[in-house]
Amino acid sequence: MHTAQSIGGSLHITEQGLALRKQFLRITPERVQALCAVSEHMEQVAPQLVREFYDFQFQFPETAYFFNQYAQQRGISLSTLRQRLEQAQLQYFLEIFREAKRGGDFGSAFLEKRLRIGYIHNEINLPMKWYLGSYALYQDAGSPSSPKRCNNLLSDPLNPPKMLDES
Ligand code: HEM
Repeated sequence: MHTAQSIGGSLHITEQGLALRKQFLRITPERVQALCAVSEHMEQVAPQLVREFYDFQFQFPETAYFFNQYAQQRGISLSTLRQRLEQAQLQYFLEIFREAKRGGDFGSAFLEKRLRIGYIHNEINLPMKWYLGSYALYQDAGSPSSPKRCNNLLSDPLNPPKMLDES
């Protein structure tokens, strides 16, 4: 299996390319600052968000079937898989805020970790529509009906404040 480095290397992502990607993703200093401002809160609520992420994923027969097959092929129980997923997802999610707190570089080291995760999903033949579709859940990390969460934080990190007061 490729290492993260060789994936990044084979894609020939230059510093300039990386800068362009950050621009495209709108990773601006203001947004980094906004991520920092909510990072402590996110450390608190992330385990719950992650649980809900997988509650959602496991609700759909197709994705639930995928998880079942995956667990069976690897000889692990579904609950073990779920634990592994939650643990990995928790780190993956919090890494966004931790990276912001580290200075918000979101540079090649961060990119390579992200590429590795994308590569893994490719290797396990996860349909792209489910993978990309799941990012909508990220945007929905806080719903208006749940005031303790970040109301559209990730889609609009410049306007995050309500949940900070209400948590
Ligand atoms: C927003 C979309 C998603 C993100 C951010 C995400 C994130 C992750 C991460 C961080 C890992 C751990 C990889 C590692 O270090 O080994 C992982 C593994 C995995 N993901 Fe995803 N995932 C997403 C969507 C999905 C979906 C939709 C499915 C299936 C329906 C899925 C199935 C899996 C499976 C089976 C593994 C391997 C678990 C293991 O062997 O421990 N993922 N995912």
